[in-house]
Amino acid sequence: KSLQQLHTFHLSVLARWFAEYQSIEELIDLLKTDLLRENPFLQIGGGSNLLFTSDYEGVILHSKIKFIEVVSETSEYVTVKAGSGVVWDDFVKYSVSNGWGGVENLSLIPGEVGASAVQNIGAYGVEVKDIILQVEAIEVATGQERTFTTAECMYGYRDSIFKKEMKGKYIITSVIYLLRKNPVYHLDYGNLRHAIGNKNINLQTIRDTVIEIRKSKLPDPDDYGNAGSFFMNPVIPVSQYNLLKEKYPEIPFYPVDTQSVKVPAAWLIDKAGWKNKMLGGAAVHDKQCLVLINKDNAVAKDIIDLAQNIVDSVKSLYGITIKPEVNYI
Ligand code: EPU
Repeated sequence: KSLQQLHTFHLSVLARWFAEYQSIEELIDLLKTDLLRENPFLQIGGGSNLLFTSDYEGVILHSKIKFIEVVSETSEYVTVKAGSGVVWDDFVKYSVSNGWGGVENLSLIPGEVGASAVQNIGAYGVEVKDIILQVEAIEVATGQERTFTTAECMYGYRDSIFKKEMKGKYIITSVIYLLRKNPVYHLDYGNLRHAIGNKNINLQTIRDTVIEIRKSKLPDPDDYGNAGSFFMNPVIPVSQYNLLKEKYPEIPFYPVDTQSVKVPAAWLIDKAGWKNKMLGGAAVHDKQCLVLINKDNAVAKDIIDLAQNIVDSVKSLYGITIKPEVNYI
């Protein structure tokens, strides 16, 4: 099966097998088959955070569990459950159109509900962990259902237990969110407030503005294959930041706590001169250096080599090791 349209880098790679399921029952049946018991498998969502380094000699699994339902509500909150195969932005659109707050800053992030809970997607000062109440999953070994509380998911910056101890052990089938009927707006990240300008502030204008900003910076994978931010923003000690600031007075930062700050990897890469640079068919995006693009029929090696050259250059210039946010498969 060609994976070219099943991941957003759009590389020409193949999977030995591909299987989709429409329900929890279908997933459980699938897990009992010899195909799944005897071969490696990889659960994917929208493929928006994956770099296939070669053909995949196993089974690619994809959820088509698609439903959104209200579980309960009070005068202040609504609890909503969404199937793992729901397109993330469809869930955001649904929440915003109902006037329920919490996810509007996460508009237009590519991918699907299941993967969003693995990756703890985030943008404009909000992470999905802030609104997740529970994650429902199936244990691969036993087919048993298990519910994870948000605490059990061990969420961190683009991180969760599903990327660590539980990697490959559970498959997420649905996510339960707690949304607010009286929204609390988060506008203080980057230029969001400024970009809204003097429009009325409500869920829809926030959503529209976030979509506008993302469209202006991030390339559409249909034009140039990409996986959004290729690297995570490094967290460094304040002491190291202060030394860097002596050399680069304009270096931006996001506060983390009293001992550490997060530095935008995009700035480090840009300042190191990588904007628009190409290696084979891969390139550094001209509007956002954190994004590597498949500019001209790139092969995986072009992207891997370009990424490694960037890591080396950032390390030698600033003494900071940046790490990929994208999962190498
Ligand atoms: N900058 C440059 N050169 C560039 C791009 C940016 O110098 O080419 C500077 C900007 O001037 C700004 C700073 O770098 O001072 C940060 O840039 P930006 O806000 O565009 O990116 P970011 O804040 O580092 C993060 C997330 C994005 C998310 C935005 C908005 C990570 C790795 N990335 O980017 O997430 O959309 O914040 O909240 O945390 C993703 O994960 O795929 C993703 C797109």
